[in-house]
Amino acid sequence: MKTILVTGGCGFIGSNFIRMELNEHPELTIINVDKLTYAGNLENLADFEGDPRYQFEKVDICDRAEVERVLASTPIDAVLNFAAESHVDRSILDSGPFITTNIVGTQTLLDACRKFNIPRYVQVSTDEVYGSLGETGLFTEETPLAPNSPYSASKTAADLLVRAYYHTYHFPCLTTRCSNNYGPYQFPEKLIPLFISNLLADQQVPVYGAGTNVRDWIHVVDHCRGIDATLRKGRVGEVYNFGGRCEMKNIDLTKLLIQKLGKTESLIRNVADRPGHDLRYAIDCSKAEQELGWVPQYTFERGIQETIDWYIANQEWVRRIRSGDYLKYYAEQYGKRLG
Ligand code: NAD
Ligand code: DAU
Repeated sequence: MKTILVTGGCGFIGSNFIRMELNEHPELTIINVDKLTYAGNLENLADFEGDPRYQFEKVDICDRAEVERVLASTPIDAVLNFAAESHVDRSILDSGPFITTNIVGTQTLLDACRKFNIPRYVQVSTDEVYGSLGETGLFTEETPLAPNSPYSASKTAADLLVRAYYHTYHFPCLTTRCSNNYGPYQFPEKLIPLFISNLLADQQVPVYGAGTNVRDWIHVVDHCRGIDATLRKGRVGEVYNFGGRCEMKNIDLTKLLIQKLGKTESLIRNVADRPGHDLRYAIDCSKAEQELGWVPQYTFERGIQETIDWYIANQEWVRRIRSGDYLKYYAEQYGKRLG
């Protein structure tokens, strides 16, 4: 594999993926196609500016002509689609951009890849397409799709398009579905970076409802390794689940962050719940372990400490984000809840 195209590479997972690939595969060239939405940040890959193996293209995946221009520019061995609107709460405020980027964008990319005979395509999807679990059980690749938020519905539609292109056109695609990621460069709207940033500033942390919802946490680098294994070893047409085997209630995670940062639990605010809030996610990743030889390498203990240390060391990165449009979003999302 010589050249791959990554979409959404200026976001959280995409930038971690590009960094890992360029560091571990010196022969690889990566083209990063990103629209630079509020979540896309050129700073995330500033260390590769000027590296001849890295090329950035400011392109919207919904813009067919521009996507085709990039695909026509050089032979490409694989396309990995990370680009998405990714935050559930924002999809509840306005589903429009989610339908456009996550569904129409995926369709546009799939059509362009077919036109240019791209030999391998990986759709980066989410466990949220499976809906919600009760107190027991795990999502497998066979779990019926039952999305509950506008975000997850749009990701499910994209997954179904990918599936349809495989069946209809024998398009060489693979799909990954992962649980909640954490790690460096995550936009401070998601639980872990939001709470770390608030706590560092001695601000309240808004826990939805009683905080009894459960998420299965995986370090972003373990997810990236799973995507890499899917790219290189996965069977075309297949879906692979990834998860951290690390289930935690939100309230327990919140208290852990407070304890690690030396803050007080009086900063916890139990606020109005997220509408349609999925109770529990937990992943069975045995297919990826058996077929791809993938194993998560991070313990949560190590991963969360490194993540906290990263946010402490990168408070300027957070400060630059937490202004302008971010403050407007924060007021709309939390203003009434925090009172
Ligand atoms: P993110 O919001 O941090 O980054 C998204 C990136 O996509 C940004 O750089 C943004 O500028 C870019 N983008 C958005 N719309 C675009 C468009 N129309 N054209 C080109 N670029 C566009 O998201 P993330 O957390 O890094 O998630 C990446 C992918 O992984 C998403 O597809 C998401 O659904 C999936 N995923 C995320 C998680 C998680 O826990 N964060 C877990 C499983 C799967
Ligand atoms: O499961 C994979 C998904 O994980 C990805 O597909 C999404 O892109 C990613 O955003 C994430 O979705 P969640 O909605 O689970 O992540 P979030 O960090 O927004 O919320 C985690 C849990 O914390 C969830 O139960 C809601 C709760 N929460 C979140 C926020 C932002 C709070 O209690 N308060 C908050 O302020």
